[in-house]
Amino acid sequence: MIRVGVFGATGYTGLEVIRRLRHHTAVELTFATSETYAGQNLSRAYPVGWDVPLVPSADAPLDAVDAVFCCLPHAASMPSVIRAREAGARVIDLSADFRLRDAATYQRWYGVTHAAPHLLEDAVYGIPEINRNAVRQTDILANPGCYPTSVILGLYPLLKTNLLAENTPIIADSKSGVSGAGRKPSLKTHFVEVNENLSPYNIGRAHRHLAEMEQAVERWGHTSAPVIFSPHLVPISRGMLSTIYVSLNQNITEEAVLSLYGSVFAASPMVRILPAGELASFAHTRRTDTAVISVTVVRPRQLIVCASIDNLGKGAAGQAVQNFNVMFGLDETESLYF
Ligand SMILES: NC(=O)c1ccc[n+]([C@@H]2O[C@H](COP(=O)([O-])OP(=O)(O)OC[C@H]3O[C@@H](n4cnc5c(N)ncnc54)[C@H](OP(=O)(O)O)[C@@H]3O)[C@@H](O)[C@H]2O)c1
Repeated sequence: MIRVGVFGATGYTGLEVIRRLRHHTAVELTFATSETYAGQNLSRAYPVGWDVPLVPSADAPLDAVDAVFCCLPHAASMPSVIRAREAGARVIDLSADFRLRDAATYQRWYGVTHAAPHLLEDAVYGIPEINRNAVRQTDILANPGCYPTSVILGLYPLLKTNLLAENTPIIADSKSGVSGAGRKPSLKTHFVEVNENLSPYNIGRAHRHLAEMEQAVERWGHTSAPVIFSPHLVPISRGMLSTIYVSLNQNITEEAVLSLYGSVFAASPMVRILPAGELASFAHTRRTDTAVISVTVVRPRQLIVCASIDNLGKGAAGQAVQNFNVMFGLDETESLYF
């Protein structure tokens, strides 16, 4: 059995990671941490019937695990990642701390000095559908953000085949359920502010996930096409839909583009491409670990791609467990939800 620890078990992503690990046939859950609920059970934090004892992160027995999931806020995650690596455990980090290749870029976007720039070289930004081999080999897996997962998967076939028009912006209009902001309450996520409302936030170049998207477009598309990103908060608990507008450098038919998407994701059980005429929506992926994508040809060189994920599934815990499965040579879909 693979012995696994979870840092930040009482957060939304931590809970979802544990939900999946509990019925994973190759995993023994060795510890779970919380500062607020240390010494108590996970059932004190959530109405679940699972006996998962919680320890403070300082007491996490790192020498007794093979891998850890870090489900902590950015900056708070770095110390746990460093300690886990020093103890020899492989890390799946759900925070943003190891997603950007460069410490200076991290500092610019997150306003924090990176505590382990030497580990950034070892970290792999992992989307199994794109870089499965690199995921398999790494000891530090930087699990992508939820918005970037939807946008990058939606664009990937076009990036891979260099179909995007140079110097033409990629416009990603994205909607997220409120759990995307984590469990800690704030005025922005207050029921009365969110209910019966739809609000853009951090538009322009303000949202930190833009840095991840641009890094991926440059890396996998070899283009510096600018990304225009407008995230919105939707009054639902979970779910994410990115509607992406792109211009191409050559004409394409609907049949050809659907065939391209189908072949690029042919060996990817967690991604589903919808047939012509069907559009991806929140309902396609709610409470699953899949991504569902539709492509519409507007004109021969203009497409609208809709990419749906559950922010806590393929956008966080589902993709983290998928990456874990790949890292340990297991069935990629073990314990995931379809
Ligand atoms: N929510 C999403 O949809 C989503 C998607 C993708 C990625 N992520 C990323 O995943 C990470 C976790 O997100 P989340 O939504 O699960 O957050 P969350 O619901 O706010 O939970 C945060 C967890 O971290 C613990 N924690 C908070 N501050 C800490 C500190 N200073 N030291 C140690 N533990 C601390 C909390 O534990 P106690 O209070 O019990 O101590 C809690 O278990 C974040 O980096 C987030 O950006 C989230």
